[in-house]
Amino acid sequence: MKMPATGLTRQELDEIMSVQRERDVDFKNGRLWTLVYYAGEDVEKLLADTFRDFLYTNGLGPSVFRSLRKFESEVVAMTVDLLGAPDGCGNMTTGGTESILMAVRSAREWAADKRGITEPEMVLPVTAHPAFDKAADYLGVKVVPVPIRDDLRADLDAAKAAITDNTVLIVGSAPNYPYGTIDSIPELAALAEERGILCHVDACLGGFFLPFMRKLGEPVPPFDFSVPGVTSISADLHKYGYSVRGTSTISYRDRDLRRYQLFSQTEWSGGLYGSPTMTGSRAGAAIAASWALLNFLGEDGYKELTKATMDTTRKLQAGINEIPGLKVRGEPDMSVMAFGSDEYDAYAIVDPMTERGWEMERLQKPANLHLVVTQTHAAVADEFLADLRESAALAAAMKPGESGSAAVYGSLNALPDRGKVRDVVLNFIDSMTQLEEE
Ligand SMILES: Cc1ncc(COP(=O)(O)O)c(C=O)c1O
Repeated sequence: MKMPATGLTRQELDEIMSVQRERDVDFKNGRLWTLVYYAGEDVEKLLADTFRDFLYTNGLGPSVFRSLRKFESEVVAMTVDLLGAPDGCGNMTTGGTESILMAVRSAREWAADKRGITEPEMVLPVTAHPAFDKAADYLGVKVVPVPIRDDLRADLDAAKAAITDNTVLIVGSAPNYPYGTIDSIPELAALAEERGILCHVDACLGGFFLPFMRKLGEPVPPFDFSVPGVTSISADLHKYGYSVRGTSTISYRDRDLRRYQLFSQTEWSGGLYGSPTMTGSRAGAAIAASWALLNFLGEDGYKELTKATMDTTRKLQAGINEIPGLKVRGEPDMSVMAFGSDEYDAYAIVDPMTERGWEMERLQKPANLHLVVTQTHAAVADEFLADLRESAALAAAMKPGESGSAAVYGSLNALPDRGKVRDVVLNFIDSMTQLEEE
């Protein structure tokens, strides 16, 4: 494909793009249970307006974009305050993955400097997000996996046994993505403290949700900087912070540790160069929009969104547990959950749900389905539960192998040659930038 020799008109573009938009999932009306955290039209308009106003600004140059310096430092200050370390520090990043990469880099550099560790290892519960495996891969850190207990939280004995003289970082999630359970952070952080190493809490999901649950008087296990030994926390603005896609935070208990995250090149002919995070240029619009949103919603706005989300979560949990053969797994600590069946193949629920207009997400090891609840689901929870009941009855009546998609996913999960499964995943990703047949 070549670029058009002559540019299209705005009208022509609008026509093409609105046709394309029609192909996308209807996330504003609750048909999707992952990927998007939509907080309503007021928030959408605020984000769009502030994003446009700062469209060209670059967070790489806070000394010339003085507005961004104020916005980023205030977003970070509000974040560390919410996370229990008013004197903490941090940065905005483009997402959970970048925040996690930064935490792992800081740990690696810190341990090399303070402890002389040259073959760093990270103790990682199997429910932790693959962003840690990616960080380990990119940064040359070995992952030592830790299984989970029956309550779907990291096994503490196994975590203790996984620590070696090369361990630089212990990770806990608040909560993990698959089950929505919070690991026992005080115990994990105490293990880290005992051994004089670092403890990162991945609160990408919970960082802008759990503090408001707590303010609503809900029981929230300790997970943040109020726990001794927790040294860094990732918290995503583009999840339950409801900001534009491409916004997260990485926070540290103290500036000495954050120092190891920073990068500089002093000998470049282009001048002295320094940058806080992985990207060079940074979208100032994303920083400005996030600042505007935190101030627009305020604590009350977040509390309201959190309450609506938790009310819907409880309704869904109760409804799912009433459907014959279905069960919510474990005791999720907030609005993220897995559910499945011990009696029939939960994957067989997906096709009938798709026919009824729902985008369902499959987990594996074992086969469960997944919900990340937001306020968009309040209006559709009854319809969802009714469709789920019908779909579950169909799944329960199916013979093994009768549902095409369940058979495909089931066999991929069961395939002992994980290299083959890796190829399937990489081929899929590869194909996503091949031109589509018109
Ligand atoms: C617990 C957790 N950590 C990290 C991430 C990675 O975040 P991102 O996709 O923004 O890079 C996610 C994403 O869902 C997550 O749920």
